[in-house]
Order: sequence, then C-alpha cells, then structure tokens
Amino acid sequence: AGTVVYENSTEASKAVAKEIADLIKVKEAQKQPCILGLATGSSPKGLYAELVRLHKEEGLSFKNVVSFNLDEYYPMEPDSINSYVRFMKELLFDQVDILPENCHIPDGTLSKEGIADYCSQYEAKIKALGGIDLQILGIGGNGHIGFNESGSLQNSKTRLVALDHITRVAASNDFSGLDNTPRTAITLGVKAIMEAKRVILMAWGERKSNIIKASIEGEVTNRVPASYLQEHNNATFVLDKAAASKLT
Ligand code: F6R
Repeated sequence: AGTVVYENSTEASKAVAKEIADLIKVKEAQKQPCILGLATGSSPKGLYAELVRLHKEEGLSFKNVVSFNLDEYYPMEPDSINSYVRFMKELLFDQVDILPENCHIPDGTLSKEGIADYCSQYEAKIKALGGIDLQILGIGGNGHIGFNESGSLQNSKTRLVALDHITRVAASNDFSGLDNTPRTAITLGVKAIMEAKRVILMAWGERKSNIIKASIEGEVTNRVPASYLQEHNNATFVLDKAAASKLT
C-alpha cells in the first residue's frame, strides 16, 4: 500500500474528491455505473463537502454512481439523529443528483433473524454490479475499518458485530453518554473491503498517528484490521502531516 501525506486535511480531501470525480467521469464515458464504497464519521466530511462543491459549481453528475456504505449502528432508525442514513443524506446524497435507489446503507431496523440473509444480499448486490470500484475508509483508534474491530479476520463477511468499548466511547458524545450508545452494528466484512479495486483510507490528526504507524509499518495482524491493507494491491493511506508524524 502507498502513503501520501498532505499539508492538511482540506488539501487531502480535495485530492481524493478529484480522484473520485475523475473515476465517475471515466465510468460515465464508458456508460458504466461507478460503484463507490462510502464511510461516515468525521474523516470523510471534507471529501463530501468537496464532492458537493464539484456538483454545484462544476457540474459533476452522480447519476451513474451506485453507493454502498460500510456500516450502520444496530438497532438504528433511519431518521434518528445519529443514523448513518441521516449523515449521508445531509452531507452528500440530498445535495447531489445521485438516485436515491442507488444509495445503499446497511439497514438498522431489521429483525435479528433477518440480518444474516440481508448481509449476504448486500454483498451479492455489490458482486452483481461488478464489485466496488473505489472504497473510502476512515480508521478507528484501534485500527478498525468499517466496524471490523480488532480480531476481525481477513475473510470476514458482512455481518452483525459487537462494537469495542473504545469505539463506543468515541461515539458516546454523539449519543449523550455510553449508556445510550449502541453495542452492535452491521458492517461490510474485511473480505468485501479487500475485494474493492481501489481503496483510500483517510486519517487526520495526531490522535490517529499511533494507529497509522501500526497499520502501515507494523505486522499484518487481525489485532489491527487496517494492517490488512498492506496486502491490497491498490490501496493508499491519505494522511495529513499530524497523522503521518510517527511514520519512519
Ligand atoms: C464509519 C466507519 C468507521 C470510521 C472510523 C473513524 O463508517 O466505518 O470505521 O471511519 O471509526 O471515524 P472518524 O472519521 O470519526 O475518526
């Protein structure tokens, strides 16, 4: 995997947005759908802002884009303030011309018994479209990608997972306290992430610097799922200076 370091997250986000815009246009010219794997959280906010700007000011169309988000809390109502459905609508989907039926986010309202089938269908839909062209990732303080926490295997499937304590603590502000923070989530599995043709992991700030070092320079281990990207043939860690500050 490669590493690219930018002066700040704004510059970095613009560069990632440019790559996505170029890919969308190439696919459009080929009359092909562009399959994007999308993340939520703070890291991709600048990216989505720039994609919205490219749509509004430079005419970038998302009509040929089909998106699959990485994860959603479980249980979660789509109109809840903390749902990833709401996040994606507010920051991207409602601000561009992507077709609502082309936006996929794991369903936080399923019955427990329905989850396994739903997850295999989620993966099957991606496969039927020819796979993810470009996957956007953030990274958790524990090295999680999507909600594939420490211990997730490289061949793990899309599934219901228990969130790590550290992940719940990181989210607890949004949920006004740990007691109200979900304990589980549905996540795209590591296998599906690794099958994406291109992967971009974005990380900003000093608080990510230790886990970035472990992911890029440490051993490939299930303790740090982001370290699996070392074995992906087209993955790039896009960092700001602070996140890269511990790299040798
Ligand atoms: C979100 C996701 C998570 C986040 C990660 C970093 O869809 O899959 O893996 O990318 O927890 O979150 P932020 O960007 O808020 O630091």
